[in-house]
Amino acid sequence: MSEEQRPVEDWASDFDIFDPDYVKDPGPVWDELRSKCPIAHTERWGGAWMATRYDDLRELVRMVPELSSRSPVVVPLPPQMREEAIAEMKMYGTENPPITADPPEHKPYKQLILPFFTPTAVEGYRQFTENLAHELIDRIIDKGEGDAAEDYAQQIPPRVIAQMLGIDPGRGAEFTEWTRGVLEIGQTDPEARRKYRTIIRDFFAELITQRRAEPADDMISRLIAAEVEGKPLNDHTISGICFLLLVAGIDTTWSSIGSSLWHFAGHAEDRRRLAAEPELFPTAIEEMLRFYAPVMMARKVTAPVEIGDKALCPGDKMILNFPAGNRDPEVFDRPDEVVLDRERNRHVAFGLGIHRCAGSNLARMEMDVALRVWFERIPEFELSDPDAVTWAGGQVRGPRSVPVRFSVS
Ligand code: HEM
Repeated sequence: MSEEQRPVEDWASDFDIFDPDYVKDPGPVWDELRSKCPIAHTERWGGAWMATRYDDLRELVRMVPELSSRSPVVVPLPPQMREEAIAEMKMYGTENPPITADPPEHKPYKQLILPFFTPTAVEGYRQFTENLAHELIDRIIDKGEGDAAEDYAQQIPPRVIAQMLGIDPGRGAEFTEWTRGVLEIGQTDPEARRKYRTIIRDFFAELITQRRAEPADDMISRLIAAEVEGKPLNDHTISGICFLLLVAGIDTTWSSIGSSLWHFAGHAEDRRRLAAEPELFPTAIEEMLRFYAPVMMARKVTAPVEIGDKALCPGDKMILNFPAGNRDPEVFDRPDEVVLDRERNRHVAFGLGIHRCAGSNLARMEMDVALRVWFERIPEFELSDPDAVTWAGGQVRGPRSVPVRFSVS
């Protein structure tokens, strides 16, 4: 048994974000940590601190530049890959802006991509998403069973972002494999992370060359034509941004749609209520985002700072556990219950501060379409084999297989 697979005895001093029971149901651990040791520590997976209280998360995201986004992954790269990454950064600038950029570099890149994701811009992709959702349901509906994660939730985000970037949505399955290679498998397998990062980088490098020769009406062509601080972007930076836009929206949104369907498959009362009262979709979606928030991010400490009774030193990693903040009883009434018509819901599923998610309007549109179409076509469904449900954890938490059965009249 490797160091990392030892069972956890003390979550405050030795937490494990990949512990299988924690990944399945992290709520009890968060409650314990928030009340006993809100800034927990571990030496596992490269070592890190982890914040679980809402107010601490708010304070930490403001500690810029002492907490840097240079390396926002929760599991650090092994030393050799870290050195390669630093060398590349020196040559070309930040890796995947804006998510890996600190101020003042961050802002112009954020401003560059935000127009792609305004509510109006993402509405332009609603019809595409709706058609896709119907096609996916058509493939399973007559069978009376299917995998709500694999056959449905997983299929939507890669195709929508491909359509937006101007790449072939038919390659959605490959994009998912690459994203999982970087974000899911790559967390504990650095060679997989390197392999899939190279595949994505090479894919975009080729595409950028094509678009330079023949511009199209898509995001890549707009990035080629764009300027940051009066200068055009180099190919490495454009491919870094495309890389981020591809990767940031796939596992995350898939997880949120998948967790929602998992929830409704296992909670008949909520399922029947939402089917009977579709006006609850907007608050129900926010509640799914709060309760099943999939994303944790990290910061690298660059100067000594204090948070609560802990002193952080340069070189430390701090994990921002936004999902835990979403269940903080200081902020949310009945935090451990799903309340479909929750009125006050200032959740932090999309993060906080300058790096708050650029794609939140897109994620919400995709969740809205995916859940509405599912409920319209399959209002009654249940888990066919609860033990067969699998979860992925770490940076992005969500169900990867959710077998369901249903009968439709
Ligand atoms: C339910 C789905 C999603 C969740 C829960 C989510 C969550 C987050 C979180 C927590 C951050 C903060 C990062 C930090 O503080 O370091 C973030 C940043 C970001 N997200 Fe999302 N995200 C989702 C979907 C998307 C989609 C669909 C896109 C677009 C394709 C996207 C693009 C981005 C980008 C570009 C950033 C970086 C923003 C910056 O650094 O200023 N996300 N996301």
